[in-house]
Formats: sequence, structure tokens, C-alpha cells
Amino acid sequence: MKLIAPSILAADFARLGDEIRAVEAAGADWIHVDVMDGRFVPNITFGPVMVEAARRITRLPLDVHLMIADPDRFIPDFARAGASILSVHVETCPHLHRTVSLIRESGARPGVVLNPATPVDALAWIIADVDVVLIMSVNPGFGGQAFIPGSLDKIRSVRRLIAGKGLQTLIEIDGGVSAKTIGGIAAAGADVFVAGSAIFGSADYAAAIRSLRDHTTS
Ligand code: DX5
Ligand code: ZN
Repeated sequence: MKLIAPSILAADFARLGDEIRAVEAAGADWIHVDVMDGRFVPNITFGPVMVEAARRITRLPLDVHLMIADPDRFIPDFARAGASILSVHVETCPHLHRTVSLIRESGARPGVVLNPATPVDALAWIIADVDVVLIMSVNPGFGGQAFIPGSLDKIRSVRRLIAGKGLQTLIEIDGGVSAKTIGGIAAAGADVFVAGSAIFGSADYAAAIRSLRDHTTS
């Protein structure tokens, strides 16, 4: 099962409710919410209040990607706001196991995120405790960047790690996903595909999502 997760970072923020409803109607599986703090990444976006507002207007899982320093401070707030999946960057968590436990105790499903230069080894002692591994295929902070080709090897490597341990962990890819790149990404073993500009930059969201989905099998 391949899941498509539109990233609302690329939506029209002045019409955010309509945009979320539109991608839900267009066949999205998850809504990807990019939370940025201007410290861990050079951009600022949403907080828990926005997640709470999104929770009121969609039934889809809210896939909240925390690109923030010291995420433990905000995890209970995001979980209370209605985040379904809460993913933290391993680069921001000196006590990653504690952070992942906090996410689960708060009622959300935990995910961990690797930046492009972060080795897969960082997952060895946490992968059994998380539901999702999110592999960044761009440097986080902005939409519309080009897919980093080396990410494909990283997906294969995480896929081997998951298979070797007999786990069901989902592999999610984020950054530069398009109809051109998604076939190779799917073949490498990803399950969940975040796409911002490839969906919100198109005139027909249903056609864009359908095209992405179709290309996962090509
Ligand atoms: C980047 C974000 C991505 C971004 C993807 O920091 O994590 O989710 O919105 O945008 P596209 O699909 O345009 O590369
Ligand atoms: Zn993201």
C-alpha cells in the first residue's frame, strides 16, 4: 500500500482550510504538516493551534513533521491538538528514546527523521520503537527543492534494516517527490510519499495525486 501525503507547506495559507479539504477530496491519504521554528531550520511555519484547526476539518491522519529544536517541549501540545503521527529529527534529540516514548505516551504514533547527511546507523537502537522512518531527500526548511539521488540508497538500506528485524515500520520520503522521481523512490522501498509542490503547484489536485500514485508502479 502506497500512501500519498500532500505537504500543506505548498498550499495557499490564506485558504488553508479549503486547501486541506480539496486534497482530502482529491484522494490524499495523510496530511503532512511541516512545523519549523527558525532555529533547527531557517524558516518558520505552524504551531499546535494550526494543527488543532486542521484536526477540526479533516478526518485524514495528520502527519506532523517537527523541524524544531528541543521538540520534547511541544510534543504534548501537538498530540493534544490532534497530531496522528509525530516525527522528530534524530539531530534534535540527545535523548531520542525518551522523546519517542513521550510521543507514544502523549497518544500519537512516533516517527524519526534523518537529514540527508545523517547515517542510517542512527536508527539501529530506536527503529523497533517507532512506527515511521522519515527520510529527508532534501535539506529541510523549504519546499520545491530538487530530490537528492543518493536518498534512494538510503531507502534501500533502511528497508534492509526493517526486514532484518522483521518489523512493519513504514518508510516515508520527503522532498522533491514528483511524477518523475516517485517511480524510483517506490522501487527502492518507500511506503509513504510526501509531496508539496507536485500537488499544490498543479491545477488539478486529483489528477496530480492520481499521477503520483500511478507512477509508484512504473
Ligand atoms: C521540507 C519539508 C517538505 C516540503 C516538501 O523541509 O519537510 O515536507 O514541504 O516539499 P516539495 O514536495 O515541494 O519538495
Ligand atoms: Zn516535511
